[in-house]
Amino acid sequence: MELNINTKSNHNDTAHTAHIKFHREVIDGLKSNPKTLPSKYFYDKNGDGLFQQIMAMPEYYLTKCELDIFCNKTVEIANMLTAENEPFDLIEMGAGDAMKSSYLLKELMKRGVDFTYMPIDISDNILTVLHNKLKADMPKLAIVSLKGEYFDMLYQAASLSQKKKVVLFLGSNIGNMEFEDTFSFCRELNKNLSPDDILLMGFDLKKNPQTILNAYHDKMGITAAFNLNLLTRINREIEADFQLDQFQHYPHYDPITGACRSYLISLVDQQVQIGEEKISFAKNEPIYMEVSQKFSMNDIEQLAQNSCFNIIGEITDSKNWFVDSFWKKI
Ligand code: AVJ
Repeated sequence: MELNINTKSNHNDTAHTAHIKFHREVIDGLKSNPKTLPSKYFYDKNGDGLFQQIMAMPEYYLTKCELDIFCNKTVEIANMLTAENEPFDLIEMGAGDAMKSSYLLKELMKRGVDFTYMPIDISDNILTVLHNKLKADMPKLAIVSLKGEYFDMLYQAASLSQKKKVVLFLGSNIGNMEFEDTFSFCRELNKNLSPDDILLMGFDLKKNPQTILNAYHDKMGITAAFNLNLLTRINREIEADFQLDQFQHYPHYDPITGACRSYLISLVDQQVQIGEEKISFAKNEPIYMEVSQKFSMNDIEQLAQNSCFNIIGEITDSKNWFVDSFWKKI
């Protein structure tokens, strides 16, 4: 079963609309004060590859911690999700290569659970990679891939099926939102679910600030390349002339707010042509690129309460650095 089996022209329309939106968001961000670029656009083909390298770096503990949970607590996770014994759609927001969730998929297949896996991702490229990988590993797995932004695709998923929903939002992807926006995001998620549907969210916890900063400031410079790659993408896709060596990656962690933010700093006074527009950068001016929010257990409780979910379970890794939290819509 595949979703976007529409006509080619339809696909091109979608690609065209996405391209216009990308162009507009880039220009809007660079005309703002302070300047900013949306981190969701990091994930083109090259960005997907760099993110996979990030997940493999020694400094990037997040993936290892959540993998510890999904490898060693698979049975507990599967028990939580199948307690009601009814068929469901397993929707994964920001599925990527599904490294962690594939342990769960295998366990559910082994048990003969009736479910359809619906990975949502903004990257066409990673969805194709994922689909091929899963089909090779689990030929009988029912997959419906949804390419697009979270809520657009969640509406799609709801229009495709009336089944119970289990939504996975792993990897602390929720940290890519400003903390104050996570509340309205979770309320919107709640509105799109039915009572008893389950949300399983991964949160990176507050911990030693240096440990956190190192995860975004690796010695090999992969995270720097990951940020700079968005400038390369803008150069290619909307005809810009960013010179990458004139910008420097600068990550910063604030242990009070729990916000880890990355910036690209302009090293000189310069002007950059982007399509029809010319944008000026002052020496040392930052472009705010990404936030990776860190949470306390209390933050997570507040978030669940405020958006009408009950926390029905929590699993942490052996270091207590990361938590997967099970929420049920009230
Ligand atoms: C995929 C959003 C969880 O914020 O830690 C990794 C992305 N950025 N290194 C994160 C990322 C820089 C990552 N998330």
